[in-house]
Amino acid sequence: MELIDGKKIAAQIKQELADEVSRIKAAGMKTPHLVAVLVGNDGASETYVASKVKACQEVGFKSTELCYDSDITEEQLLAVVDKLNKDDDVDGYIMQLPLPKHISEEKILQAIDPDKDVDGFHPCNVGKMVTGLPTYLPATPAGIVELLRRYNIPTRGKHCVVIGRSNIVGTPMAVLMSRKDEHADCTVTMCHSRTPNIKEFTLQADILVVALGKPHFVTADMVKEGAVVIDVGIHRIPSDKTKSGFRLVGDVDFDAVAPKCSYITPVPGGVGPMTIVSLLQNTLKACKGL
Ligand code: GUN
Repeated sequence: MELIDGKKIAAQIKQELADEVSRIKAAGMKTPHLVAVLVGNDGASETYVASKVKACQEVGFKSTELCYDSDITEEQLLAVVDKLNKDDDVDGYIMQLPLPKHISEEKILQAIDPDKDVDGFHPCNVGKMVTGLPTYLPATPAGIVELLRRYNIPTRGKHCVVIGRSNIVGTPMAVLMSRKDEHADCTVTMCHSRTPNIKEFTLQADILVVALGKPHFVTADMVKEGAVVIDVGIHRIPSDKTKSGFRLVGDVDFDAVAPKCSYITPVPGGVGPMTIVSLLQNTLKACKGL
């Protein structure tokens, strides 16, 4: 079993990006600028946005964090979106999800200028991804494809089973893995909360991508010997073994599953760091033009 070290690969890519930013700056071109919009005070969202801003600083991008109270109205948030769309200094921006219940995510995401939509969530960009046109790929699935590529893990003709059908991970993951491409070309099965006998499917997976958001959902009996397991989940669970009183676990029961795998991503340090570098890659694309 080999551990897929997302932290290491993310550090390599960040170095590549930092080198490119140095070249861009030396050539007198514009410094890439990412804006992250955070609404309310969801602890996890605050942590994610802080990590994204920190990563920008590490590679030499300009970054701005815009924070609003959870009682901001939809109209006021649409005005923020409009301002960002018109601001030439902003290359790309993200609206950290989830938004408060009284705001329509659909409405906000559709108001984002697709050229600045570095999360790749706008329907125009989703459509471009599905049809294989150049666009911003959603960060988590793009990061997973990059991990498989950099570890030279064969995908062509393999059976990839994706658990989860979210717009952010499961659905784009299934699309990307089925693309006609040396680093995809999989037969893809998508499973979700309404799939009966999910084990029947997971046992067929050469590559199993788990993104359903339930701690330790995938157990050893659900995984084929020699499978590649990619764990997108991240959960804080109580632990009496750590000083903080909690530990981070994924959607996969890592200790039991890992011995059966050819490759597996750990949590933390697997997919998470790759999500952030994909966003940086998209921001650079936004600055240079797709
Ligand atoms: N919430 C959970 N994942 C994401 C993401 O990739 N982008 C944004 N904007 N919000 C999220």
